[in-house]
Amino acid sequence: MLHTNLGINEKNHLTLAGVDTVSLAETYGTPLMVMDEERIRRNLRLYKDAMRRFFGEGSRPLFASKAFSCKYIYRVVREEGVGIDLVSSGELYTAVEAGFDVKNAFLHGNNKTDDDIRYAIECGVGHFVVDNLTELDRIDEIAAARGLVQPILLRLTPGIDPHTHAAITTGKVDSKFGIAIETGQADAAVAYTLKKRNVRLDGFHCHIGSQIFDVKPFCDAAALMISYIASVKKAFGYEAKILNLGGGPGVRYIESQPELDYAAFIEKIASFIDRETARYNLKKPEILMEPGRSIVADSCLTLYTVGGVKEIPGFKNYVSIDGGMPDNPRYALYQSDYTVCLASRMADKPDFLCTVAGRCCESGDLIQENVPLPRPNRGDILAVLVTGAYNYSMASNYNRIPRPAVIALRNGEAFPVIRRESFADLTRNDL
Ligand code: LLP
Repeated sequence: MLHTNLGINEKNHLTLAGVDTVSLAETYGTPLMVMDEERIRRNLRLYKDAMRRFFGEGSRPLFASKAFSCKYIYRVVREEGVGIDLVSSGELYTAVEAGFDVKNAFLHGNNKTDDDIRYAIECGVGHFVVDNLTELDRIDEIAAARGLVQPILLRLTPGIDPHTHAAITTGKVDSKFGIAIETGQADAAVAYTLKKRNVRLDGFHCHIGSQIFDVKPFCDAAALMISYIASVKKAFGYEAKILNLGGGPGVRYIESQPELDYAAFIEKIASFIDRETARYNLKKPEILMEPGRSIVADSCLTLYTVGGVKEIPGFKNYVSIDGGMPDNPRYALYQSDYTVCLASRMADKPDFLCTVAGRCCESGDLIQENVPLPRPNRGDILAVLVTGAYNYSMASNYNRIPRPAVIALRNGEAFPVIRRESFADLTRNDL
């Protein structure tokens, strides 16, 4: 199977963490997202242990909660002693509601409003990741009004192209995020920041993109950022304490993709950091990473019920399910790869090539094309694997379709973590 938490039981049903997914669909209804909590914890520990081991003391992961944000996940992450990356006041509010200590949070965003800045300072957010200098001015003023000094990182664009989907590339100079090193604007920003009295510059951040399988762009970014830290030290006498390398390590969605060994990935990046810090005679900074996808994606699958099968002779076959782009817009947006299977008939021969379509009034509402399945019947349970990252967090109510329920599995027991939306939820804000 694609991941070790997936299996097939004696009824030929798909299992996640040993639990029969078809019986979960019967109990909780579909569409249903099912999360394997042990897998999330395993992934968090893997990063935590490897980063401490290879990057040294103080180095640690921050879960990029944009991948999946709800009270439950902030509780799990807190229990594992891992920090978080936030991108909005809504995520911050959710974390606070979950009892997360936001001293361990880094707040991102390329357009933090004055309200965002005020709210985050009020909540005691540990670090702002500052994207531009107008934002910096406001943080400085608002912190001054409260008699505080706000710790920050500056977000820089190192000019690295990781060759992933264009929509999820972020580290190139031509990006809406961060301040470019190449243009000299980063130097000016550092000089400007160091003069501010109510912000404390703790270091730098970069993020090159997402779903990246090759370690080289990460090594290049790390080497470039270390050489930048050295040049800043020389020019301004300031030595960065923290280097945050962002998120991005790839996840296996389909058999032909590799399963990354994240510890080996980290070890390799560490060897570049060691080499470069030695070359410039720098103290090794605390290294932070912000994995999102690689923490939650493979913990989760989505279950749907098959409605109709439409065969168009000479063209293709469509299998319609009771969800689609409202709960998973990633194929519509990025033509993302997914593995799809018939959870209720895992032993049957997959000799029916089809397109899995959602129920929205839109032709682009597809989950995957060219999928080999046993010819489905109405009522069969269909599973889309590896849906933990950027599915629920990007879900919408398009066509007034309620968002699905999310349940988690722990020690073989299922429990709800996000309630299924009701029709009443859909009209709650309508006046
Ligand atoms: N840090 C920063 C500053 C980011 O912008 C991101 C992702 C991450 C960390 C986490 O990256 P990850 O480890 O999850 O690759 N909606 C798209 C992905 C957008 C990613 C945006 N930033 C998708 O569904 O593929």
